Amino acid sequence: MKKKLNKIAKDTNYFLKKFLSKQKKTDLIKPINYGLFPGGKKIRAKLIVDIGKIFKIKYYDLIRLSAAVECIHSYSLIHDDLPCMDNDNLRRGKLSTHKKFGEATAILAGNSLLTSAFEILSDINFNVENKTKIMLINLLAKCSGHSGIAGGQFLDLSFEKKKVSIRKIIEMQVKKTGKLFGFCCVAPLIIAKKYTYIKRFENLGLNIGLLFQIADDLIDYSGNSKKVGKKTKKDLKKGKATLINLLGYKNTIKYSDNLKLDIFKKLNIFKDKSNELKTTINYIIEREN
Ligand code: IPE
Ligand code: IPE
Ligand code: MG
Ligand code: MG
Ligand code: MG
Repeated sequence: MKKKLNKIAKDTNYFLKKFLSKQKKTDLIKPINYGLFPGGKKIRAKLIVDIGKIFKIKYYDLIRLSAAVECIHSYSLIHDDLPCMDNDNLRRGKLSTHKKFGEATAILAGNSLLTSAFEILSDINFNVENKTKIMLINLLAKCSGHSGIAGGQFLDLSFEKKKVSIRKIIEMQVKKTGKLFGFCCVAPLIIAKKYTYIKRFENLGLNIGLLFQIADDLIDYSGNSKKVGKKTKKDLKKGKATLINLLGYKNTIKYSDNLKLDIFKKLNIFKDKSNELKTTINYIIEREN
C-alpha cells in the first residue's frame, strides 16, 4: 500500500510541478509551493486511481484529476490552519503556511490553489470531450463550495463548544471531508461515461470520506504529533463537535468498524475488481498519520 501511495504521490507532484512551472512567476508561487509540496499522503489520489482502474481510465487522466483534487485539498488545509479557523501552527511536519508567510499571503495562496484546480480541469491539453470537462468542473465546484468543504468548515466552526446531535455531526463531516471524496469516486465514472453508476459511487465516496474524517478524529485523540505531522489532542480542547466527544472513544471505533463493513458490503458486487479499493479503505482506518 505504502509503495503504491508513494508512486501516485510522486506522479501527482510531478504533474503539479510541471503545471506550476508553466505559470507566470508571481510572488505567490513560493507560498503556493510551500502549501502544496511535498504534500501529504495522497489518499484521495489513491481512491481516484483505484476506481479509475476498475473502469479502465488512462492513468495520466487519473493523475490530472488527482492534481486538481490535491490543489483543493491543500487550499482547504492552508485555510483550516488560520487563526480564525483552527489556529494550528504545524502542518505536514512543518510550520503552517500562515506561520511561515503571514495570514494575508496564506489566504491568497489558498485562493490561488482553489482556482488552479479549475485551470487543471479546463486545460486545453486535457484530452476528453468538452461535456466531460464541464461535468467534472461543475461537480468539483459543488463539492468545494457552500454545500461542500466551505459549508462543512462553517458548520465545524459554528458547532465548537456546543452540544450537537449525531445527525448534525455526520452532516458536517460529510460536507467538510466527504464531498471531496465523493468527487474522487465519481470523477473517473464521468470520464468513463458510466452515468448510471454515479449516484451509487457518490454515496460510496461520502461514506469513505466520513470514515476518513472519523479516523482523523481518532488520530487526533490518541495519535503522536511527531508521527502525524500536526498537533494532536486539540479537538477536545477546542470543543470540536466530533463523534468521540459525543459518544466516547470506544463507541466511535465501533461506529467506524460498522461503517467500514457497510462500505465493503456495497463493494461486493464488483468482486475481485474492488480488492485494491478495499485495501485503501483498510488503510484509512489503520493508518497512524
Ligand atoms: C487532513 O487530510 C484533513 C482532513 C480532511 C481530515 P489528510 O490526512 O488527507 O491530509 P494530508 O494531505 O495527508 O496532509
Ligand atoms: C479539516 O478537518 C477538514 C478540511 C476540510 C480542511 P480537521 O480540522 O480535523 O483537519 P486537521 O486535523 O486540521 O488536519
Ligand atoms: Mg478544522
Ligand atoms: Mg484543523
Ligand atoms: Mg483533525
